[in-house]
Amino acid sequence: MNKIPLCIVGILILFPILSTTPTALGYSASAPPEAADKSTTSADTATPTEEREPGFLETLWELNGRSHPILVHFPIALLFVAAGIIVLRKPFPKLSLDVALYCVVIAAAGAIAACIAGWEFASISGYTKGIFDQSNETIFYHRWGGVFVAVCATLFAFFALKSAKSGYKSFNKTWQLGTLLTAASVGLVGHWGGNLTYGDDLERAIFRLLGMEYTYHDEHDQPKKPTKVTPPPSKDEKVDFVKHIQPILEARCVECHGPSKKKGDIRLHTKANAFTLSETLDETFKIITPGNPEKSTLYLGLIVDPDDEDSDLELMPPKKKKGPLPKNQIDLIKRWITEGANWPDGITLKEPSK
Ligand code: HEC
Repeated sequence: MNKIPLCIVGILILFPILSTTPTALGYSASAPPEAADKSTTSADTATPTEEREPGFLETLWELNGRSHPILVHFPIALLFVAAGIIVLRKPFPKLSLDVALYCVVIAAAGAIAACIAGWEFASISGYTKGIFDQSNETIFYHRWGGVFVAVCATLFAFFALKSAKSGYKSFNKTWQLGTLLTAASVGLVGHWGGNLTYGDDLERAIFRLLGMEYTYHDEHDQPKKPTKVTPPPSKDEKVDFVKHIQPILEARCVECHGPSKKKGDIRLHTKANAFTLSETLDETFKIITPGNPEKSTLYLGLIVDPDDEDSDLELMPPKKKKGPLPKNQIDLIKRWITEGANWPDGITLKEPSK
């Protein structure tokens, strides 16, 4: 029995080490924080951090992250069982406190493991920009609520063990009440987590049942902004960057080639970034060569045959992002480049809201 607290302490010490190791190794599954504003000036010097092959530890770390949805259910269930026993011991005094104790101790270890995995899972899933990033409330509450649960569960597991040693005399109320509190919060935290994955249909259903109108909206259940539909320019009209091109690039390209990500070492959200030399082909090619789509990798990438593995360029947007673009959009981009690729100064493209 004495080994269990030792294990928990061990895990607690490992937690910060584990969570910083990948960063120390220079790995980040999410966007590198250097990104944002330096882009225009340091686009050429910044080192690519994303497109290299992940090493063994990184793969392991990602595996750990992806196990979060499995791991979380153990502490939740165990805490509920423990709380259930504690409550039901009033009418059924024969129920064993020892069982509740075991549940809390294992739940504490499970909660810590789930937190560690969740940390990485959030960035794999593209939810966060930093640990205190509040732009997405649900993930913020879910993350810190999860940490709260892990801390509480660990604390009350210690009290429970102490209490068990004294034959459930000292700290007996403390750990039992604490377990009830932790079980209640894990319910809420799990619910936020569920909302992240499944949307908030449960609230909707409850409100509907009560005949009330549901108004709360998390940014995640807003439908993705559809690409603005602008009538195509007629034959004698020039393609307009803001009206016709910007919406396509914002909807389909900037998430990977913008302020936060720099796939293939290129960004496309500012004019300065988009009119530089190609990273892949020789120096006669630019990302955009005004007047000449055949020398513009931005266009050439759109028409790559998705099944051609020998091509120097890869299809853009990649197949997994539902590339290629519809033919009319490809034609528009081609025409825009042919007509001189006019990009009014000062226009910066935005990332699609998630
Ligand atoms: C899912 C992320 C993703 C999206 C979305 C995406 N790209 Fe890319 N892009 C990449 C990756 C990865 C590379 C590097 C490919 C390689 O290894 O050659 C790249 C490379 C490029 C290059 C580099 C070619 C060169 O000159 O070196 C261009 C240009 C490009 N993309 C344009 C676009 C355009 C235009 C769109 C939108 C229509 C787009 N990309 C959408 C991931 C993406």
